[in-house]
Amino acid sequence: MTRILMVCLGNICRSPLAEGILKSKLDSSKFEIDSAGTSNQHEGSLPDQRSIEVASDHGLDITDQRGRPFTREDFKTFDYIYVMDTSNYEDVLALADTQEDRDKVSLILNKIFPGENESVPDPYHNSIDGFKQVYQMLDESCTVIAQELEKS
Ligand code: 4NP
Repeated sequence: MTRILMVCLGNICRSPLAEGILKSKLDSSKFEIDSAGTSNQHEGSLPDQRSIEVASDHGLDITDQRGRPFTREDFKTFDYIYVMDTSNYEDVLALADTQEDRDKVSLILNKIFPGENESVPDPYHNSIDGFKQVYQMLDESCTVIAQELEKS
């Protein structure tokens, strides 16, 4: 089993979309995908209604997901940790104990813009259009991730 974790700040807008999208592209008997937030502010919460709506527009149901904070334990559980933005990157790396932990973490948009260290914009204070744009970026990135994982 290969395990992949998607991380954002609240675990209600971006990473639940990334989790749902990547799940839809990979075989669940071989790949386990989860998401978490660097803050615990939305622990136990459903994804944001706008993420639920945009996912649903693409045939994905993400309403089984609940927010949870990222923990040090996640470095042991997961093989790949994709973060949405540069502050998530710093917050996750601050909890890493070893180089092996650090090597698991990367910015998800580097999959489609290699080496550019671009961030998925936080859509929380934006309109539904911001969520639609985030969905497209994550869909393209997850297509690349799924292709690479299926080859490995
Ligand atoms: P996310 O978006 O990190 O994509 O889940 C946010 C959700 C909530 C907050 C910030 C970002 N917040 O400040 O409550």
